[in-house]
Amino acid sequence: MSYARIIGTGSAVPERVLTNHDLEAMIDTSDEWIRSRTGIERRHIAATGETTADLGECAARAALAAAGVKPQELDMIIVGTTTPDLVFPNVGILIQERIGANGCAAFSCEAACAGFLYALSVAEKFIRLGEARRVLVIGAETLSRFVDWTDRSTCVLFADGAGAVVLAPSEETGILKTHLYADGRYKDLLYFPSGVSKGFDSLKSGKDFVQMRGNEVFRIAVRELSRAAVRILDEAGIPGSDLDWMVPHQANLRIIEAISKRIELPMERVVVTIQEHGNTSAASVPLALDVAVRDGRIQRGQSLLLEAFGGGFTWGAALLRF
Ligand code: COA
Repeated sequence: MSYARIIGTGSAVPERVLTNHDLEAMIDTSDEWIRSRTGIERRHIAATGETTADLGECAARAALAAAGVKPQELDMIIVGTTTPDLVFPNVGILIQERIGANGCAAFSCEAACAGFLYALSVAEKFIRLGEARRVLVIGAETLSRFVDWTDRSTCVLFADGAGAVVLAPSEETGILKTHLYADGRYKDLLYFPSGVSKGFDSLKSGKDFVQMRGNEVFRIAVRELSRAAVRILDEAGIPGSDLDWMVPHQANLRIIEAISKRIELPMERVVVTIQEHGNTSAASVPLALDVAVRDGRIQRGQSLLLEAFGGGFTWGAALLRF
């Protein structure tokens, strides 16, 4: 049986860093509150004019270089994002044209913070079915664009960045399983209130921003991500304590700690980058993955559990050998 395997990773963040102390000067908050409630210390914020496609392109180039794959060899590009540059062409096509991969399929996957896991799951199927041999999967976001910078309950959390992986077929074990979930009953707990069809009227008035009921999101994220992690590990017959690494969605350190406890994986084997990056939505998992690959923590052949949770709600998990 042939697997889809990650053969290269890459990431990119904007140059500008916004620390918790910087935020103290902007809103009624404190470094201590943000660190103790979320784990975040600083985050990267896109410069004026810097877009999701810009960050995605940088991450894509790094992943292609790491994989030793030329853009012309790509069969498909899938981008998980909720902050596209334009309504269309989609971000995948914008990146395709810039890197010179013209002709291959390219599309975006709109599943909020779970966008990268959704994209990875789709890409994996194309490779396992033999319908694609080289697929670039990207998570890229500029969430700072739809945050209300006067709302302390959201602006301290979200940030910008991108991560990417290249997938290829392999006889050696790669992606073992992916599970995707969504539950629209929770659509009012985390959402952005404008869109093309519904209209941008409130956006034009400068009053439209991401809306979140943080407490409720927190509770359901812990419950559903724990269930998803336990289910995927059980199905594969792998105890959580045997995993080499968990690479979780970087939304809140307390959510991450609760899941690590539930699957009995010590925090020393959990990749945590939230202190540096904040919540970069669909970029969060591939960004953390690339950081841990490049600093030598994650090694070839190790077992990884990826998971993410976002607005909708959407969520998912993936189990793989790197
Ligand atoms: N600085 C200081 N105080 C703040 C604050 C900030 N940035 N944001 C909120 N507070 C205050 C609140 O006003 C509240 O004050 P009150 O008790 O006087 O009313 C108090 O802190 C507690 O607020 P609460 O919302 O209950 O805090 P919390 O412990 O639930 O933490 C979140 C808030 C947002 C950090 C947390 O709920 C969370 O991370 N939720 C999940 C979010 C998430 O993961 N979203 C993305 C999913 S992809």
